Amino acid sequence: MAGSGKKTFQIFFFALAILLFSSNGSKLSVGARSPSPSAANTVTPSPAPTAIEPPASVDILAATPPMGWNSFNHFGCSVDESLIRETADAMVESGMAALGYQYVNIDDCWMAPERDADGNLQPDPQKFPHGMKALADYVHSKGLKLGIYIDRGTKTCGGLPGSYGYEIQDANQLASWGIDYVKDDNCSVVGNLMDDYTKMRNALNATGRPIVFSMCSWGFPGMLVARLDVAHLWRTSSDIKDNWDSMIKIGEANNAYAIFAEPGHWNDPDMLEVGNGGMTDSEYRTHFSLWAIMAAPLIAGNDLRSMDQATRDILMAPEVIAVDQDPLGIQGVRLSSPNAGKGFEIWSKPLAGTNTRAVLLLNRSEIEASMSVRWTDLDLPAGPAAVRDLWARSNLGIYHNGYGAIVQPHAVVLIKVTSVESHAVAPFVLRITME
Ligand code: GLA
Repeated sequence: MAGSGKKTFQIFFFALAILLFSSNGSKLSVGARSPSPSAANTVTPSPAPTAIEPPASVDILAATPPMGWNSFNHFGCSVDESLIRETADAMVESGMAALGYQYVNIDDCWMAPERDADGNLQPDPQKFPHGMKALADYVHSKGLKLGIYIDRGTKTCGGLPGSYGYEIQDANQLASWGIDYVKDDNCSVVGNLMDDYTKMRNALNATGRPIVFSMCSWGFPGMLVARLDVAHLWRTSSDIKDNWDSMIKIGEANNAYAIFAEPGHWNDPDMLEVGNGGMTDSEYRTHFSLWAIMAAPLIAGNDLRSMDQATRDILMAPEVIAVDQDPLGIQGVRLSSPNAGKGFEIWSKPLAGTNTRAVLLLNRSEIEASMSVRWTDLDLPAGPAAVRDLWARSNLGIYHNGYGAIVQPHAVVLIKVTSVESHAVAPFVLRITME
């Protein structure tokens, strides 16, 4: 340049702008970055797969993981009909219902301490003075569904009447009220797990009402239960607590059972704590992302009537919800890698369509980390792929062979990766320096 005695010309040639389209037809932005993922974060590549399509018929109950709300994480035993009505109102007014949240679930402590003279369960008359049928009618009038809690033993965990020996009577009672979702807990047990839950499942089926059946036996109930179609979802852990360690350990435990998840049957790592105050917003984003990539039920556990903006933004992140609700119903898994043990984890979930994955870069450590993934780690072909940031809801561009990002402690980057068709030409930059 002038004054330096040196002439430098930088000439940039951009490849002919060939329109790049993803497999679903949307136009993608073009980038020119090409990260060099560290081998340390990767797994052994395997052959590229072909398109994966959703099952032909998804006309089944809980075809995607149930979405809704449950009273227990925030309110414990303090439930009454005003809370349930107001929660139903808030679910609609907040926009959550429009995004797929539909079950309003009453947990423990809704019952009167004794059954009535005919042996029927009855709601606590102080808490539910208008009864459960009226409440179900109200919730249904909002376009939502009502869920309720029972226990397979002789008493609920709150010490109220259990359903042991009353399975048929209770199933008929709940169906007559218009209940749409039953969570069956595990306190004061006298029978055995398989028999108790099978009896209740059969009794609910016999009512003829479509009722989602949620087993709550505080740990994976065993391959037999999962394979015998007993429940739509089953808890895989003890109760979640509103802190990072509890959440992340439960998420990890749930990973082991990924093979059992499918449309109509889901591993349940417990209800969400998002918005309850015990974690940072970033940790809650991690919580929600992890549940989404694991195709876990998204059952909010906060007070929907008083959510701050950060909580709304997490619970109502449409593209994160879409990962959870993907029609393929495959539970994403953590990829094995040497760095996973240090807290730098890559999770991957196949999504419907051709060569499409949700990918979670999860930093469980206390330090900022540079994390990366290669397409071949994801069973995707090497070469160009479109990357979209699902929290920011923006296209990041076309990346060749892999993607890397800085991930903050206890935080995530959640992306969607879609291989670009083979005829696409990648952009390049050529720099010529002349003396
Ligand atoms: C158990 C369950 C919780 C909740 C409480 C209610 O602990 O695991 O999810 O239902 O009982 O008492």
